[in-house]
Amino acid sequence: MSRLQVDVVIGLQWGDEGKGKVVDALAGDYPVVARFQGGPNAGHTLYLNEQKVVLHQVPAGIFHEGVYCLIGDGVVLDPEVLLKEVEGLRQLGISAEERLVIGKGVHLILPVHRWIEEVSREGEKIGTTRRGIGPAYADRYARRGLPVGWIDRADFPALVQELTAYHAARFPEGEAPSLSERFWEGIELLRRLQQVQVSEWLPRFNRVLAEGSQGTMLDIFAGTYPYVTSSHTTVAGVISGLSIPPQSIREVYGVLKAYTTRVGGGPFPTEVFGAEAQWLQDRGNERGSTTGRLRRCGWLDIVALRYAIQINGVTRLTLTKADVLCGLPTVKVRIGGTDDHPHYISLPGWKSLADPAFEEFVRFIEQETNLPVWSISTGPTRTDWQQRALA
Ligand code: IMP
Ligand code: MG
Repeated sequence: MSRLQVDVVIGLQWGDEGKGKVVDALAGDYPVVARFQGGPNAGHTLYLNEQKVVLHQVPAGIFHEGVYCLIGDGVVLDPEVLLKEVEGLRQLGISAEERLVIGKGVHLILPVHRWIEEVSREGEKIGTTRRGIGPAYADRYARRGLPVGWIDRADFPALVQELTAYHAARFPEGEAPSLSERFWEGIELLRRLQQVQVSEWLPRFNRVLAEGSQGTMLDIFAGTYPYVTSSHTTVAGVISGLSIPPQSIREVYGVLKAYTTRVGGGPFPTEVFGAEAQWLQDRGNERGSTTGRLRRCGWLDIVALRYAIQINGVTRLTLTKADVLCGLPTVKVRIGGTDDHPHYISLPGWKSLADPAFEEFVRFIEQETNLPVWSISTGPTRTDWQQRALA
């Protein structure tokens, strides 16, 4: 019997809660960090010795020597993006190839998937990241996609050509994409990496940290459909994306920002505009790490938060970016009302995170969610981190 125990880091809002940093802070205690969904739409920003690094495909455990980083079956993977990232890591002195492990069930993002997002314009309203995520998952579910486990088949190049031609024919107005050398170099990289049957490989370890991408409110089922991504960003995605039994899930770390951001279209009940929004964008550096777009900003939404906690079975909260709000005279929090008419309360602002008003804010979140705030991120780097005693 496997004694596999899986702890999960999940975003409770619309992504960009700071999950990458939380994973980096926790990863040293785990032999494996595993991504279970999403693809290069993710942008996990980390600071390695004050150097900013953005990871899109590689799990955020990569900065810990001796930690395996698994790209689990629920992920869609762009070989060109992975290649670029592995090269970038090499320049930082990290040989990712030795510790990267790829599930055979991971599906490939082909150049044609990115191209579909350009020619179809179907993602424009949603404001997708244009990384081919939706088209790659659509092919996966339409059962014409290409899993990583097929790259060594003799007919693999033909399958790539066929799928490309299939989509090119659907959009005759566009100029069909060519398969670049970089794509095949990316496939060569995949051939060098360890490819595994996840259901066999993962139970060899006792402890695994599952790294979520995007956030609960972007989940294909549970999110604000159709303004969502194409994968299960919730705990449900961990079970299917890593082929693990539900009983193996132990802690579920729910990550929330002290305010809210959203990139792309869709409902956002606590959104603020004008100078207020600009203040948060500037102070919080709220610009998409994948697309460079300014993030929409708003207040913390306890109604949405309770929903996210409920469906994920969150056991501990991690609060991030409260330092961004330092200096505001009051901080608003939505505590009820409808999405069209949210009801807020105003809490006293804080000058620093040592200010008693900040402790009051944390206590307020704990009361409203009935969960402990287990840790607080106090800045961007790994050491900007406070752990709180659990009652
Ligand atoms: P897609 O995942 O590129 O298909 O984009 C679908 C929606 O999810 C868009 O609104 C994106 O802005 C949003 N999204 C996708 N990935 C992320 C992320 O990592 N952080 C925040 N928003 C994201
Ligand atoms: Mg991000």
